[in-house]
Amino acid sequence: MKDHGSAINSPAEPLPGTPHWDIEALRADTPGCRNVIHFNNAGCGLMATPVLDAVLDHLRLEARIGGYEASAARAADIGEFHTEVAALINAAPRNIAFAGSATHAYANALSAIPFEPGDTILTTRDDFVSNQIAFLSLRKRFGVTVAHAPDTPEGGVDVEAMAALMRSLRPRLVSATHIPTNSGLVSPIAEIGRHCRELDLLYLVDACQSVGQYPIDVAEIGCDLLTATCRKFLRGPRASGFLYASDSFLRAGYEPLFIDMHGARWTAPDRYEAVDSAARFEEWEFPYATVLGSAAAVRYARGIGMEAVAHRTPALAARLREALAPIPGVRVLDRGPRLAALVTFAVEGWEPQPFKAAMDARSINSALSFREFAQFDFTTKNVDWCLRLSPHYYNTEWEVDEVAAAVADIMSHSRDTRRGPR
Ligand SMILES: Cc1ncc(COP(=O)(O)O)c(C=O)c1O
Repeated sequence: MKDHGSAINSPAEPLPGTPHWDIEALRADTPGCRNVIHFNNAGCGLMATPVLDAVLDHLRLEARIGGYEASAARAADIGEFHTEVAALINAAPRNIAFAGSATHAYANALSAIPFEPGDTILTTRDDFVSNQIAFLSLRKRFGVTVAHAPDTPEGGVDVEAMAALMRSLRPRLVSATHIPTNSGLVSPIAEIGRHCRELDLLYLVDACQSVGQYPIDVAEIGCDLLTATCRKFLRGPRASGFLYASDSFLRAGYEPLFIDMHGARWTAPDRYEAVDSAARFEEWEFPYATVLGSAAAVRYARGIGMEAVAHRTPALAARLREALAPIPGVRVLDRGPRLAALVTFAVEGWEPQPFKAAMDARSINSALSFREFAQFDFTTKNVDWCLRLSPHYYNTEWEVDEVAAAVADIMSHSRDTRRGPR
């Protein structure tokens, strides 16, 4: 593999208005930067050294003194997962539950709502694929109705039309995804939340692609529930995420369908009591090394500062979109009033795997999205698949330009191929 460690020394212009960054130090702290141009942060961010060390140190401790003994010895540090995540999203530690994935957190939250036939779930056309499948599963089992608010012509949900549906349908649950997996769209989750609060409707937000990329404030969003992963823009280890559950949600007595001895106490042979915090959504067994690594990742993100990240990361993506747009055969697909660091584009004349393989061959990490991930969005855009590039703050302007040049090069070869050998 190529060594990309010196990329930062190249003369590309920094982004105007970007706050002062010691990008070289951040990259030195990120071993993966030496091997690849990592534009797959929407899949999984590159771990920084303190995150990697937190995971490995705990695994070593478990091997040395025993798993239960290691978690007892590090109890205070482990508790920092809840403290760090709470501080990141403006909540209290008692409102945070660790989860093995964002999907697990989301499904667990859904399981707490006693849906009945005739209930409505109101969502958007950009809610995440697994959420949409979960709603359809609830429809199949409990006879709920799933309603989708329409989009504006510009792209993204029409909040006023959604609010009208809230008033007419009185949904049991409103759900929205802040940033979908398949485009750079940023949904107006706080505006949706304002209507939910006015109408006293349960509101569940999927912030999987936005934590670590933008400041998240659950009080401002006005949600009852919020789910996220730690592995993407937070740059934590894989298989870690969390659920936020508001005090009013907890006080109302919602609890997951399958609650265990960590989330509840077995108080009599025929009785149990759920604990009063969001811990009722956790399980007894924890991947402690991962929890410690995730706490380190959130601490690292907070140390850098989410305002600064929210400035630089989407700006790198905007630079990339601008460089990709004029390339013959490339169609940039991201639409909406505000765009995040997920850059998606379709290419003429290529099948998905060979195109991604051509990027891989240049040590550029990317991801594919398919219509199955985005039935509404890809139908509107009339595409079956796209390539997704997702830079993060530790990527450089030089890398953005390299990636755009690589796409241009691959596309020029495809035109040569169509014309036949020369
Ligand atoms: C918007 C969104 N929500 C939820 C998820 C699911 O996250 P996890 O794989 O941690 O379950 C993803 C993953 O790509 C996502 O992009």
